[in-house]
Amino acid sequence: MTGPLLQVTGLSKSYTSGGGLLRPGRRATVVDDVSFVIERGEAFGLVGESGSGKSTIGRLVLRLVEADAGSIVFDGIDVRATRSADLRRLRRRMQIVFQDPFSSLDPRVRIGESIAAPIRLHRLRSRDAVAGRVAELLALVGLSSEQASRYPHEFSGGQRQRIAIARALAVEPDLIVCDEPVSALDLSIQAQVVNLLADLRARLGVSYLFISHDMAVVRHLATRVGVLYAGRLVEVGPARRVFEDPRHPYTRMLLAASPVPVPHPGAARRIVLGEPPSPYEASQGCRFASRCPHAVPACLAAQPPLDAYGDEGRQAACIRAAELPTSEGARDDEALMSEAYRRRMTLLRDARGTRPA
Ligand SMILES: Nc1ncnc2c1ncn2[C@@H]1O[C@H](COP(=O)(O)OP(=O)(O)OP(=O)(O)O)[C@@H](O)[C@H]1O
Ligand SMILES: [Mg+2]
Repeated sequence: MTGPLLQVTGLSKSYTSGGGLLRPGRRATVVDDVSFVIERGEAFGLVGESGSGKSTIGRLVLRLVEADAGSIVFDGIDVRATRSADLRRLRRRMQIVFQDPFSSLDPRVRIGESIAAPIRLHRLRSRDAVAGRVAELLALVGLSSEQASRYPHEFSGGQRQRIAIARALAVEPDLIVCDEPVSALDLSIQAQVVNLLADLRARLGVSYLFISHDMAVVRHLATRVGVLYAGRLVEVGPARRVFEDPRHPYTRMLLAASPVPVPHPGAARRIVLGEPPSPYEASQGCRFASRCPHAVPACLAAQPPLDAYGDEGRQAACIRAAELPTSEGARDDEALMSEAYRRRMTLLRDARGTRPA
C-alpha cells in the first residue's frame, strides 16, 4: 500500500451541554476542521494546552468517539465507514497507550497474561508460541520474562507503562496513539520511556500519534508536530523547524512557557497560560488574537486558514507568519525557550541509549 498511513481531513467534533426540555444546550466545538497526515514510520506530535482537543483527536481517530464531520483514512481504509468485523481488524492495527497504565492493566491479571490475551484473541501465534512471544515483548521494552508472573501492583509506574507498551505492541500495530504516556512519571523515568518509544519506532517501524503538552518531550520524539489551539491546528511542520523557528505566536508562547520540571507523580503537569477562549463562544477572527502580542485589527476580521509557509512542508494559521522575527542566525529561539525547557531537553538527550534499571 502506498500513500500515508493516516490521513485526517476536516475533522470536527462538538458537544452540547446544559440543555433542557425546552431550552437548547450550548454547543462547544472542541475539534474544529483539523487536517493532518502521518506517514509510515513517522512520529507525529500533537501539542497544545489543556482542553485544546488533543485527546479528543486521538479518540476520534480510533473511533472511540464518533466524529461529526471529516474523514479519517488509515492505510487506504475509510475508518468512519468501517463496521463490525472490519472495525475490529482495523482496531488491532491502531493501539492506544494512556497516561495512566493502571487504568489499562487489570490488577487481578498477571502481566504475562495481559500481554498474551490479545495475541490469542487475534490468533497471532500458535498456542505453543505465545509464551515465547510474551518473553520477546517483555525484552523489547526492557523487562525480563521472569516478571511475566507478577501482578501490576508489583511494578513501578515506569515499568507499568513499559508493560502497557508491550501489550500495545503484542498485536503488531502500525499506529500507536500515545496520549500523554509519560506525563504521570518521574522525570528520570520519563526520559527512559520516551527513549524506549523512540527506539521501538526505529526498530519496528511503528508510527505514533504522540499527544503531549510537554514541548521538550515532543521535540525529542516527534518527526513532525502539530500545534493545537482551541480545537484548531495553528501550526504544522517538521518538529525541528517548528521548535527552532516557530511561525505562530501561540507556538512561541508554548515554548516560552514550558512548565518547570517539578516531579509530580500521579498527575500530569498541565500548561495553562492565561485564559484560553471558551469553546462555547464563536469568534469571527483568529481565536488567539485576544492573547496575541502581535495582533493587528485585521486578525479580528476573519479566521486565518492553515496556509503553507516556506518550502519545508510547514503550515501556519497566522496572517503575520512571515513577518514574525526569525530566529535564524541570532538564535533568539533559545531566548524564547524557558530555562526549564532547556534543562528538560538536556535530560532527555543524556538519557538516550541508557537501559532501564
Ligand atoms: N464527552 C465530552 N462531553 C463534553 N465535553 C467534552 C467531552 N470530551 C471532551 N470534552 C471537552 O472537549 C475539550 C477538549 O478536551 P480534550 O480532552 O480533548 O483536551 P486535551 O487537549 O486532551 O486536554 P488535556 O491536556 O487536559 O488532556 C474540553 O473542553 C473538554 O471539556
Ligand atoms: Mg488529554
